[in-house]
Amino acid sequence: MGSCKLVICFLFFEMFWCWTEGLGVNWGTMAVRQLPPKTVVQMLQDNGIKKVKLFDADFNTMSALAGTDIEVMVAIPNDMLAIMTDYDAAKDWVKRNVTRYNWDGGVKIKYVAVGNEPFLSSYNGSFLNVTFPALQNIQNALIDAGFGDTIKATVPLNADVYNSPSVPSAGQFRTDISELMTQIVQFFNQNGAPFTVNIYPFLSLYADVHFPVDFAFFDGGSTPIVDGQIQYTNVFDANFDTLVSALKAVGLGNLPIIVGEVGWPTDGDINAKASYAERFYNGLLKRLAANQGTPLRPNTNIEVYLFGLIDEDAKSIAPGAFERHWGIFRYDGQPKFPMDLSGQGQNKLLVAAKNVQYLPQKWCVFNPNAKDLSKLGDNINYACTFSDCTSLGYGSTCSNLDTQGNASYAFNMYFQVQGQKELSCVFEGLAMITTQNYSQGTCDFIIQLASSPSLRTSPFVMFVLVLIVILFFQSEQL
Ligand SMILES: *[C@@H]1O[C@H](CO)[C@@H](O)[C@H](O)[C@H]1NC(C)=O
Ligand SMILES: *[C@@H]1O[C@H](CO)[C@@H](O)[C@H](O)[C@H]1NC(C)=O
Ligand SMILES: *[C@@H]1O[C@H](CO)[C@@H](O)[C@H](O)[C@H]1NC(C)=O
Ligand SMILES: *[C@@H]1O[C@H](CO)[C@@H](O)[C@H](O)[C@H]1NC(C)=O
Ligand SMILES: *[C@@H]1O[C@H](CO)[C@@H](O)[C@H](O)[C@H]1NC(C)=O
Repeated sequence: MGSCKLVICFLFFEMFWCWTEGLGVNWGTMAVRQLPPKTVVQMLQDNGIKKVKLFDADFNTMSALAGTDIEVMVAIPNDMLAIMTDYDAAKDWVKRNVTRYNWDGGVKIKYVAVGNEPFLSSYNGSFLNVTFPALQNIQNALIDAGFGDTIKATVPLNADVYNSPSVPSAGQFRTDISELMTQIVQFFNQNGAPFTVNIYPFLSLYADVHFPVDFAFFDGGSTPIVDGQIQYTNVFDANFDTLVSALKAVGLGNLPIIVGEVGWPTDGDINAKASYAERFYNGLLKRLAANQGTPLRPNTNIEVYLFGLIDEDAKSIAPGAFERHWGIFRYDGQPKFPMDLSGQGQNKLLVAAKNVQYLPQKWCVFNPNAKDLSKLGDNINYACTFSDCTSLGYGSTCSNLDTQGNASYAFNMYFQVQGQKELSCVFEGLAMITTQNYSQGTCDFIIQLASSPSLRTSPFVMFVLVLIVILFFQSEQL
């Protein structure tokens, strides 16, 4: 019996290893105009990406993933956590969003993310009471539905759930939530679920002007942090090992850790630029491919999900203007900089999205014949409130435009996001439509995506169907 069990475990382990191999990406969908999910899935496949992490379990996204060999982490948004403290609701969620896709040729769901960074200090504790009960209910509902061995519930946590007064080896869970974190990690351990952490070297740099720039990357050059026998030369390792130490402090130093988000933005801040992103990913991907691990977990394969796949122009910019520029692809599925996802350092542009449908080649710009400029500021503000002007800020790709250039940029962003409706290029007579490309230098005046046909035709098709029915009944009555 004993040895038989061992073989099964080993087989299981092999399978597990097989499944977790390779790199994942975060596929967020907070963009006003989106690439069709099928186009995105094709793009994932063209680039050999076999794992995605979602922020919900949207039916259209899941349908596009069905039948592929892409492994999926589905998610329950924070605002649904309170509902999941009810076991029946959790069971229902699992039925609707997990069991539903469990057929041959369905979706390969591997994890359920319960919430997204629910313990961020900036949430003022709003999700402290609900996260753990929701996690327990979802994990138990997965077990009840027969997925106990194959699908695990985890909670993607921001790195501010732990800290260290000094060096990584002194890592511990944040004092205000240490008891809660201990219960959660014990629960992960009981269920064979991993700890999921989001690590952002960019944010270390963004938050602290004195942060040594080279320490954010993986190519040395900074003064190491000395921690006993260990010398840390990059903040990713130091951060990861602070977590390992925090886990060790509660007796679970070997709990599996996956990195739910890691990446570098390309616009919206002086340090958010393509050259830095290229440098960051180049270092990160090489070490991941070499299974280098970290000083406290050497020679291990770390499961990692890059953040993110595509730029999202509807994200909140409360954390910073860079928030809308995390994609390794632009809004339209064009690659931004060379990289090698296999970590061999053969950096070249990734395969772009195929058959992308754009709006016509028309831009909305400042009208140089406009007489009254007194309302220019107000109109720029209006345009930027309802579109994305984060590229205009200090240190960004369009920061060197003059006032009229600023106006043109803002008007165009609004016009594009509105689907180039003529009435969206008026701005009290200050704007005009042109077929001339106003892009200059690093500043791209974009043409937006045509909305996906399914979104467009379905209300129309419904309308026609209703009309046919009405006409049919009318002719019957005649
Ligand atoms: C789960 O499925 C339901 C029913 O299809 C859907 O309304 C809901 O949005 C899904 N949940 C998430 C988090 O996407
Ligand atoms: C948290 O509290 C601060 C200050 O009291 C407030 O400005 C902020 O809006 C709150 N955030 C949330 C998510 O409730
Ligand atoms: C969490 O629960 C405690 C005790 O039941 C309560 O005092 C506290 O107000 C709750 N906090 C939130 C954010 O709901
Ligand atoms: C252009 O817009 C940006 C962002 O709103 C602003 O910081 C900058 O001062 C503007 N430049 C000019 C010349 O008006
Ligand atoms: C506009 O010009 C820029 C730079 O010259 C170019 O990169 C971009 O592709 C052009 N846009 C369109 C829609 O042709």
